[in-house]
Amino acid sequence: MSLSFEGRVVLVTGAGGGLGKEYALAFAERGASVVVNDLGADTKGGGKSSAAADKVVEEIRAKGGKAVANYDSVEDGEKLIQTALDAFGRIDILVNNAGILRDRSFARTSDLDWDLIQRVHLRGSFLVTRAAWNHMKNQKFGRIIMTTSAAGIYGNFGQANYSAAKLGLVGLANTLAVEGRKYNIFCNTIAPVAGSRLTETVMPPDLVESLKPEYVAPMVLWLCHEQCQENGGLFEVGAGWIGKLRWERSQGRIVRQMNQPMSPEAVREQWDKICDFTDATKPSSVQESLQSVVSVLSRVEEEVSASPTAAVAMASSASGINPAEAVGQKLPPTTFSFTHTQCILYALGVGMSTKDPEHLRFLYEGHSDFSCLPTFGVIPSQAAMMDGGLGSIPGLNIDFTQVLHGEQYLELYKPLPTSGQLTSEATIADVLDKGSGAVILLDVNTYSGDELICYNQFSVFVVGAGGFGGKRTSEKAKAPLPPPKRAPDAVAIDSTTKDQAALYRLSGDWNPLHIDPSFAAMGGFKSPILHGLCSFGFAARHVLKQYANNDPSRFKAIKVRFVKPVMPGQSLQTEMWKEGNRIHIQCTVKETDAVVLSGAYVDLHGASEASPENLTKGGGLQSELVFAEIGRRIKDLGAELVKKVNAVFGWEITKDGKNVAQWTIDLKNGSGALHEGPYSGKADVTITVSDEDFMEVAQGKLNPQKAFFAGKLKVRGNIMLSQKLEVILKDYAKL
Ligand code: NAI
Repeated sequence: MSLSFEGRVVLVTGAGGGLGKEYALAFAERGASVVVNDLGADTKGGGKSSAAADKVVEEIRAKGGKAVANYDSVEDGEKLIQTALDAFGRIDILVNNAGILRDRSFARTSDLDWDLIQRVHLRGSFLVTRAAWNHMKNQKFGRIIMTTSAAGIYGNFGQANYSAAKLGLVGLANTLAVEGRKYNIFCNTIAPVAGSRLTETVMPPDLVESLKPEYVAPMVLWLCHEQCQENGGLFEVGAGWIGKLRWERSQGRIVRQMNQPMSPEAVREQWDKICDFTDATKPSSVQESLQSVVSVLSRVEEEVSASPTAAVAMASSASGINPAEAVGQKLPPTTFSFTHTQCILYALGVGMSTKDPEHLRFLYEGHSDFSCLPTFGVIPSQAAMMDGGLGSIPGLNIDFTQVLHGEQYLELYKPLPTSGQLTSEATIADVLDKGSGAVILLDVNTYSGDELICYNQFSVFVVGAGGFGGKRTSEKAKAPLPPPKRAPDAVAIDSTTKDQAALYRLSGDWNPLHIDPSFAAMGGFKSPILHGLCSFGFAARHVLKQYANNDPSRFKAIKVRFVKPVMPGQSLQTEMWKEGNRIHIQCTVKETDAVVLSGAYVDLHGASEASPENLTKGGGLQSELVFAEIGRRIKDLGAELVKKVNAVFGWEITKDGKNVAQWTIDLKNGSGALHEGPYSGKADVTITVSDEDFMEVAQGKLNPQKAFFAGKLKVRGNIMLSQKLEVILKDYAKL
């Protein structure tokens, strides 16, 4: 389909000749109503005549098009827009094109040379655009073009005034792109090259002749069409070629040393690295740009949810949260490569020591059972947070200096490998409004190749970002659970060392808050604090030792809420309560009795079932695992599920064509129950499925309806109830 502009009203400034004229003709030819603006000035801005605009209008009308002339200077922005409204009743598209030149070497540039250029190019584009803005905003459509120049982008001898104004237009366009996005107002910038009276003094005549304005106009038309979703782009265009420009930034270097003033010598020493574009990044927003600076100061932080002062006060950018836009957005995937070195370093970081001979399997790569600690699963996924991806999510305009790490959930689907490459994919699962702040739930799936290895949920608290009218809770949140009321069944105490944070940070969280006293002081702490995820590691290994014989394959999941900071050197006391395969935990600082991790628990695989692979290898039923989990879910949420589902489900699991197990999921009576064996009364619906297909369904790989039609899943009783299966199996869909 050809691109039509029927019904659209276009204003082209400086359209009496050169490029502007070409745009006006091209828009009119495709059905637009065009306001042809031109002051009729000479190239230096002198003189005035209506002839230039009139001629173009005549040419358009002669071809059957719709056009009116306007002879005002772009410095009278309102008048230009008024002409469009009077003649055609609206304004949809604005091409800021009018321009003059007053080239002088810099020393000879007069005030007038400077001011005139700024007034026509920069101030003129500002005034006309501002006059159009509210009309575009109200109609939720607008396309704006700014015209820059290679002289502005790269600099050019004799054009200081012109290049300053021209690059100023790029800055203007960048911000309009940000502010206009939600109103469907897109603003892009072109740096054209074309033969015109502006270039005939600098280009040889045959080049002026061959670089036709017709080779630029189609690009302007495309950028202004409703189909084009480009916004904030910068393009060079000429001779039929179009290229896009963007910023590139070197990896850079931190030149500040702990406890030392920053020095120019340190800058000199790192100069080559600062300017080295190997592995350069391409930041495209102020958030992305700020993030790398702020991450040096205040990367997403944990443990300080009770102490918002820890968020370092920096210039706060305008905040705005729009859950509808943000939820479901994905961050760019991150990869993490590691060897046994990282596993060992992590184990040392969370306090493992050769003093305990059982720790050797986590500290010595030559050990026959050498393994990676399960909580290492947070390390590959944290890059998604650290790399500042959150800053690029639409609908999450937040002040990154106010971000705290509130809670963490980690679940392993496989024991972690001890080396390799893992890829993590992060999604904004939900955004909650807690009044005093916002909570962002970030779900991160980590894969080895195609295989899902673990799932993390980061719960990030943004101080001061609440009050946007969002919901307070989310069913996607992995909720913390209080421990039973009785005295703990077991207690483990371990002291952290003075260098615990210094060691733990080597696993990838380089926030100076954990090592730099002056930085910690800015955050309101007497001295650097331990990483919350370090205490998390301590607590998890206490459980692993107490209840799982230090066997990492027994570990399934962990949830914690970070309450208060721990100082390196303090002792951590983990209290544990065993409730089946769930171990509730609470962590306190022994010296102060302050609770530091609350609502926490570790889920273990049963001793006999071990990890899922072992189960299948051992010939056991895979479905048992899922039923065990459903049982746990019913324990937590039974009453709620009974309300939603109100039915008894009978299950018959087959293997090699034989009935091998029966289960009952009772979501009708009391607060629900799961038990092995058939239901004593009559189940509302009974489902027969093979062990393998059941796993497929539970993992979301096989849709229950499809399985039914394919004869893989048989249903007796109230067949409609099978639609409620999703409520029960939902948690597995992400597997
Ligand atoms: P041009 O001189 O043919 O067209 C500019 C038009 O703007 C003229 O018709 C002039 O009367 C009008 N104008 C000047 N001051 C005005 C004012 N205050 N209010 C309303 N109209 C006014 O020049 P050309 O080459 O077509 O340039 C168009 C735009 O493209 C300019 O902004 C120029 O800076 C830019 N540009 C052009 C390049 C080229 O290779 N032709 C290179 C880089 C940028």
